[in-house]
Amino acid sequence: MKHNPLIPMGGKIINIITESSDVKTFQIKPEKPLNQIPGQCAMISLLGIGEALFSITSPPGCDYLEFSIKRVGKLTEALHQLDAGAEVGIRGPYGNGFPVEDLKGKNLLFIGGGIGLAPLRSLVQYALDHREEYPNKFQLVYGARSVDDLIFERDIFESWPKEKEFEMNLSVDVENPNWKGFVGFVPQYLEELRPDPKETMAIICGPPIMIKFTLQTLEKLGFDPKQIITTLEYKMKCGIGKCGRCNLDEHYVCKDGPVFYLSELKKIKNDFC
Ligand SMILES: Cc1cc2nc3c(=O)[nH]c(=O)nc-3n(C[C@H](O)[C@H](O)[C@H](O)COP(=O)(O)OP(=O)(O)OC[C@H]3O[C@@H](n4cnc5c(N)ncnc54)[C@H](O)[C@@H]3O)c2cc1C
Ligand code: FES
Repeated sequence: MKHNPLIPMGGKIINIITESSDVKTFQIKPEKPLNQIPGQCAMISLLGIGEALFSITSPPGCDYLEFSIKRVGKLTEALHQLDAGAEVGIRGPYGNGFPVEDLKGKNLLFIGGGIGLAPLRSLVQYALDHREEYPNKFQLVYGARSVDDLIFERDIFESWPKEKEFEMNLSVDVENPNWKGFVGFVPQYLEELRPDPKETMAIICGPPIMIKFTLQTLEKLGFDPKQIITTLEYKMKCGIGKCGRCNLDEHYVCKDGPVFYLSELKKIKNDFC
């Protein structure tokens, strides 16, 4: 029987990976599978402390879920204090996830900013796991504030660059003597890289300011709004259509999204276009 997504179940932390000074990836084995698709999220809770939404960073099919969590407040601070073996509450999955069917056979341009790489990672890994359906070029443009803030180092420096037809473009906002890559913001880097829109789908996740300027830049580079997908997950609160805090016009981001095509967003009053 399908698990009721409103009722938390138990989850055991089986491993913790330190990604940066304030981000850790938690591998959590839930009591039952969530059967999520790439781009969905889940509520993680600690008794007596709180509950919050986090993107599922791992692709479907693993027998554990990965969450990459930035330490910003009460709950995330408490999660960062835990060791492997600790128990958390978990419920979900929530949100519509990425339209994996529409991406088949296209060149895929993944654009991530900061912790926004977390939901994109599940999609990148999912597409790599199904390369026969996604045989074309992959390009990842990922920006972080500083070299120390780059997350998923084992993916971005080791495993993904070894993949066939996988172009990796990394940027940081501030200069560092050890950094030979691009310095600046993601939209500027895109203008320099000038990715070819032909047969390409662009998928964006990052802070709102990055999303806004990246959408404008992609259109300037010739991408049609039907070729641009973004996730507005930062607007979600309850995630299940109850709190009314995620609305864009008559739409609830948590029910109709958080993943939208730019062509859909253009028909809705919003802060981006
Ligand atoms: C759909 C969705 C997906 C998400 N995915 C991820 C993810 O994959 N990884 C991730 O790390 N985060 C993710 N988030 C964000 C995450 O849910 C929040 O970071 C989380 O709610 C923080 O909870 P907290 O109790 O630790 O922070 P809180 O204590 O609730 O603090 C939240 C914010 O308030 C600020 N704050 C706290 N106390 C004060 C104070 N006294 N004065 C001023 N400011 C203060 C903090 O700096 C922080 O920015 C996601 C959010 C959504 C909606
Ligand atoms: S997040 Fe609560 S109604 Fe959408």
